[in-house]
Amino acid sequence: MNLQEYKKTVEELNLYAHHYYVLDDPITTDEVYDKLYHEVVEYEEQNPTHTLKNSPTLRVGDVVRDGFSKASHLSRMWSLEDIFDSSGLEKWLTKTYKLDSNISFYCEPKFDGASLNLIYEDGILVQGITRGDGEIGELITDNVRTIRSIPLTINHLERIEIRGEVVIFKDEFEKINELRLKNEEAVFANPRNAAAGSLRQLDASVTASRNLVFLPYAVGENTLEHKLLSDTMDYIYSLGFRKPPERAICVDANAIETIYKQMIQDRQSYSMMLDGMVIKVNEISSQIDMGYTVKVPRFSVAYKFPAIEKITTVKEIILQVGRTGAVTPVAIVEPTDIEGVVVERATLHNFDEIERKDIRLGDKVIILRSGDVIPKIIKVLTHERDGSEVAVVRPKECPVCASELLDEGVLLKCQNLSCAARVVNSIMYFASKPCLNIDGLGVKIVESLFKAGLVKNVLDLFDLSLEKLLALEGFKEKKSQNLLNSLENAKGCEYWRFINALGIEHIGEVASKTLSDVFGFAFVDATKEQIVVCDGIGEEMAESLLEFVRVNKETIEKLQVILQPLEPVQREEAKENPFKEKTVVLTGTMSESRGAIKEILESLGAKVSGSVSKKNRLFDLRCRCRK
Ligand code: IVH
Repeated sequence: MNLQEYKKTVEELNLYAHHYYVLDDPITTDEVYDKLYHEVVEYEEQNPTHTLKNSPTLRVGDVVRDGFSKASHLSRMWSLEDIFDSSGLEKWLTKTYKLDSNISFYCEPKFDGASLNLIYEDGILVQGITRGDGEIGELITDNVRTIRSIPLTINHLERIEIRGEVVIFKDEFEKINELRLKNEEAVFANPRNAAAGSLRQLDASVTASRNLVFLPYAVGENTLEHKLLSDTMDYIYSLGFRKPPERAICVDANAIETIYKQMIQDRQSYSMMLDGMVIKVNEISSQIDMGYTVKVPRFSVAYKFPAIEKITTVKEIILQVGRTGAVTPVAIVEPTDIEGVVVERATLHNFDEIERKDIRLGDKVIILRSGDVIPKIIKVLTHERDGSEVAVVRPKECPVCASELLDEGVLLKCQNLSCAARVVNSIMYFASKPCLNIDGLGVKIVESLFKAGLVKNVLDLFDLSLEKLLALEGFKEKKSQNLLNSLENAKGCEYWRFINALGIEHIGEVASKTLSDVFGFAFVDATKEQIVVCDGIGEEMAESLLEFVRVNKETIEKLQVILQPLEPVQREEAKENPFKEKTVVLTGTMSESRGAIKEILESLGAKVSGSVSKKNRLFDLRCRCRK
């Protein structure tokens, strides 16, 4: 084979793969493909410098990593507001038409998987990044290259972000779980978890073996000039990406309802799981005008599919103890397949609910699963009882530490601050993504640290040393060092993460950001009057915060010394200048990093917003920043 033949063969293989993985329409046999593939491998072995950027041999995933590094998306990845029925749709349409009445809608399935951002530069796939917190995700390019429906090169030379969902087809999910059962590994709860788990494998060949599929649904940063989203998406498909099984442009509520009903009818026959339909304003200029709320675009909404119900039997009620000590019962039911997902447990919220619904062990019940929500028991089939059912006893003792429970009716609470479940769960929360985002502190590890007496509270985490860890069973040098590195990396975190990580009841991510912005390090000294006037913070939250600070001030101070979080910048008032008190939107390519320009603008007293909206349109200064 010479170079020219090699190039031709790579092209031929890619055409076959495109027909197989993207168009679902194979045009050759495995035998022909394998023979050509072998020839390509041989040529590349002899001429390694000739390997083309789109060679199928780059997809085998022969890369194993220690961990993933983080990477920023070029533009933020948003989530979606949900609606559930016609009245929700009507309300959303009224709200949206108020912003712009001259619009149509692009409707496509909402795929149930893991979101992924692809960055192409000069037509080459350069980065694949998980969604993460929407601004920063994990860099998983090696794994992404193994996904056959993601082109390694595209015929589009300007920089572009292509976003979509990575899914696992229902039949593939079954196969993976069967194999895992055989190998005595834990099965995946549903195709979404399987897709997300497979995407984040340190060994890329594992990802390659899982037959993941990428379905594009949007572009991020781009230089496209289409007027309609439907044209943008057609363009993306023309670059070699997979189309959704169904999509439509709708002009009004009636047309939206019709395609929505159609999708519900068809979903069973699709290879992938859907959990709703996404409605997007089709006119791109209107999308820009409408802009975003803090969390979601105003021009798009997820119209969720109705939940699916099944009959099953209650086998057992187990008790879970959360980080606040709240004890919640969970029903373990006869495993039941609901839309490709095997349901084995259902939430019960509290014992009052068990009593109100009179749920007994052995009862036949109707369970309901809707989208990503944990299934719940909606009805007990009392007429099916044969007398063998057993009533559930309200517990008096904590199932974990056996201390007496505080029974407040709806709330059953373990009051023992050193209860293993409380400690382990609060450490897990402390380390979780929207808090300190500490990698490598899984439940098993935290449990071993607790059992060994090394960690009784979050402060103890920072007293861990290589020596102490190596003395524990199952902690080898690498695992221990990784954990210590992750803990070290948590230092210097943003202040809102620090506040969120404290786990104050009723104070979540949004409130933590507000407290950090308004008070900075002084939030521990804020008075009730000062707190309740903050945006989105009510009386109950303020009281919970004050009580927490009263009891834990010393711990907060110690943690702050250890973690050295970044004090949110409290700026001095800027001198008069054209940017002062204006909102500026940064778009396009700039000579400096976006962060640096944002910093300059903020020091001039401007607010830098993520997108153009009705409110800030007036000051949409299309400028190129130069030094
Ligand atoms: S659009 C600008 N379209 O749903 C809006 N998202 O609940 C960005 N998803 O994180 C999202 N299918 O991962 C969009 N056809 C679709 C989708 C879709 C699945 C996921 C996506 C997003 C989540 C939001």
